[in-house]
Amino acid sequence: MTTSQSTTSTAIDTKIEAVLRQHAEQQFAAELAELSKIDTRQRPPNWKLSPWAVRTYLMGGQLDNGFVVTPKYVGNARLMEIAIATLATDRALLLYGIPGTAKSWVSEHLAAAIAGDSTLLIQGTTGTDENAIRYGWNYARLLVEGPSEKALVVSPMMQAMQDGKIARIEELTRIASEVQDTLITILSEKTLPVPELNTEVQARKGFNVIATANNRDKGVNELSSALTRRFNTVILPLPSSIEEEIQIVDRRVASLGKALELPAEKPALEEIRRVVTVFRELRSGKTIDGKTKIKSPSGTLSTAEAISVINNGLAMAGYYGDGELHAGDLAAGLTGAIVKDPVQDRVVWLEYLQTVVKEREGWKDLYRACHEVL
Ligand SMILES: Nc1ncnc2c1ncn2[C@@H]1O[C@H](COP(=O)(O)OP(=O)(O)OP(=O)(O)O)[C@@H](O)[C@H]1O
Ligand SMILES: [Mg+2]
Repeated sequence: MTTSQSTTSTAIDTKIEAVLRQHAEQQFAAELAELSKIDTRQRPPNWKLSPWAVRTYLMGGQLDNGFVVTPKYVGNARLMEIAIATLATDRALLLYGIPGTAKSWVSEHLAAAIAGDSTLLIQGTTGTDENAIRYGWNYARLLVEGPSEKALVVSPMMQAMQDGKIARIEELTRIASEVQDTLITILSEKTLPVPELNTEVQARKGFNVIATANNRDKGVNELSSALTRRFNTVILPLPSSIEEEIQIVDRRVASLGKALELPAEKPALEEIRRVVTVFRELRSGKTIDGKTKIKSPSGTLSTAEAISVINNGLAMAGYYGDGELHAGDLAAGLTGAIVKDPVQDRVVWLEYLQTVVKEREGWKDLYRACHEVL
């Protein structure tokens, strides 16, 4: 059975440089190849790398031969070990947490390192139906030929089962509960029946599922307890320290800026520190020194949004500024990220600008620039 998936990936391979966002296994192909070369440890059946090498790929490190693997996840290595070990068992993995904590990012990199393929993806929405998880039909063919293997449209889940790879489900809790339950048989029996063809697909070794879900969004459905029992849940936290968060933003901004070919200098770490400080203070409801209490805005102010604010500022600096990131390039993006509710959040932001930003040594430029766009 062929899928549209495999046709698209051959088309992409020919013009990989022109692609806006490469899949993790393409972007980090050199690292994965190098790890595979030196990896002599035991690999679970059909895994591309050993759990040790997958961990090194995620957390980064220097290999004995001097090759440097860049960190993908910045944070607690133990969480990644639990996630990787889960995938070597018969339980599926659920990455859970508030928005912007790298759930999708980690899921993609895990699939890339373990199966060499992060593209077997089902995006969960309220409209996701059983066919998206199991299989569908090419109706033109179905009408002419009746049910046949050729008329069957293979889902990413079925493909992952056939190939012994990782299937990814994004935003699992957005999918209606009765559709979610389709997963129960797949996860416990490792089989997908196709009654129309009087057959079934039995998962090959190496198959497993990574799902992500966040607990903040509106309109989410609970996971049924039957399904919860089939997942190991790993909760991804917000970066614990400001230094960690600055490091995450710095790395992602550098790599995004390169991909977008922005004509701006790499931002000064000090500018990143200011944005991250603002985010952390507003999120926690107090200043970093703990002295002043402040109100929190309605949005989540995730690390992912801090990355966008800087990236947006770089575009402004590159195309309309002097190519170097200043407060004036950041102000609009920063205000937009914080003021989600035009009334309440505006009050919160104004108060923070007055009581904290204005008074802080060396922050006058940021105060002025933000005040201007409000
Ligand atoms: N601890 C971290 N280590 C590395 N990157 C991180 C970390 N936290 C956030 N990021 C970065 O934040 C960005 C957003 O992450 P991602 O989209 O995976 O979030 P998410 O948890 O899936 O959010 P959502 O719930 O909105 O889907 C990514 O570019 C990722 O690199
Ligand atoms: Mg996500």
